[in-house]
Amino acid sequence: MKILGIETSCDETAAAVVEDGVRICSNQIASQVEIHARYGGIVPEVASRQHILAIIPILKQAMAEAKTTWDELDGIAVTIGPGLAGSLLVGVSVAKAIALAHGLPIIGVNHLEGHIYANWLTNSIPSFPLVCLIVSGGHSDLVLMKGHGDYVILGRTRDDAAGEAFDKAARILGLGYPGGPAIEQAARAGTASIQLPRAWLKGSSGFSFSGVKTALLRLVEGGKVSSQADAAASFQEAVVDVLVTKTVAVAKECRVKQILLVGGVASNEVLRKRLAENSPIPVLVPEPVLCTDNAAMIAVCGYYHFQAGKIDGLDLDVVPSLKLA
Ligand code: KG4
Ligand code: ZN
Repeated sequence: MKILGIETSCDETAAAVVEDGVRICSNQIASQVEIHARYGGIVPEVASRQHILAIIPILKQAMAEAKTTWDELDGIAVTIGPGLAGSLLVGVSVAKAIALAHGLPIIGVNHLEGHIYANWLTNSIPSFPLVCLIVSGGHSDLVLMKGHGDYVILGRTRDDAAGEAFDKAARILGLGYPGGPAIEQAARAGTASIQLPRAWLKGSSGFSFSGVKTALLRLVEGGKVSSQADAAASFQEAVVDVLVTKTVAVAKECRVKQILLVGGVASNEVLRKRLAENSPIPVLVPEPVLCTDNAAMIAVCGYYHFQAGKIDGLDLDVVPSLKLA
């Protein structure tokens, strides 16, 4: 069974074909990073217009790479939220047009659920129950998953998401956009020698990253940061320390079989390594290109919806503030 996935929730225009929920036949991504970098962040209006320009070429490339014809597809999975309304609309409109033209079923997918399902594309199939740490530009959630589509939110961020904190810290340090990869790169040349606060929020499985970001800003404003690399390493260390410690504690408490690390921040090498080293419970992490936004994760998630009979109609609409549970 071949599912075409379409993802346009933020600043990546992506299309992919996945077979039987496990084999990636194609995975095409057109990034808008360079366009938004000059503004220091994503400009929603610019993002939607770019998606309109990129979506058809990307779809054609995904179909060509997969050596698949429209008739060989079994369904179309598309991100309906959460994300930028104008950006989501491009993907959903194109998905509906293809579904109508070729008589294919359409499946609306939650972007965060897509991030989780990227793990079904790794070498080992996840075992339930499991705990997911979703760390992206908009989310830092700890989620208990007892089965397909069964989510209980155990904790989320009270303020900035982890990726957002990386982006803001990079701006404070003059490292540019997107901040996560820039901080990771700069940190390689430094040591985590600057003490930055950690918000442990005792008794809660939630997160808070605005304090560490403000502490960094005060140090920079006060002229107390002499090494950009040390500041980047110290910031990364503070965020990774909290994410890893709280995730392992929650996973032990819930007695789960596995931990899944997902979302754009999961491509961070230090976070991947530290979680694997510090967790007595097996950790699954998709390869970096499947952690940041892509359409293969949407296709595999759509496959599992399809198997469960969860198919949508052509009245499918975008839900910019869609929740996982
Ligand atoms: O999942 P994603 O690609 O898009 C959203 O759904 O938000 O995540 C993007 C976020 C950005 O904030 C970016 O700075 C962060 O993931 N990110 C990283 C790294 N690569 C991307 N954060 C830390 N280290 C990285 N290597
Ligand atoms: Zn994402």
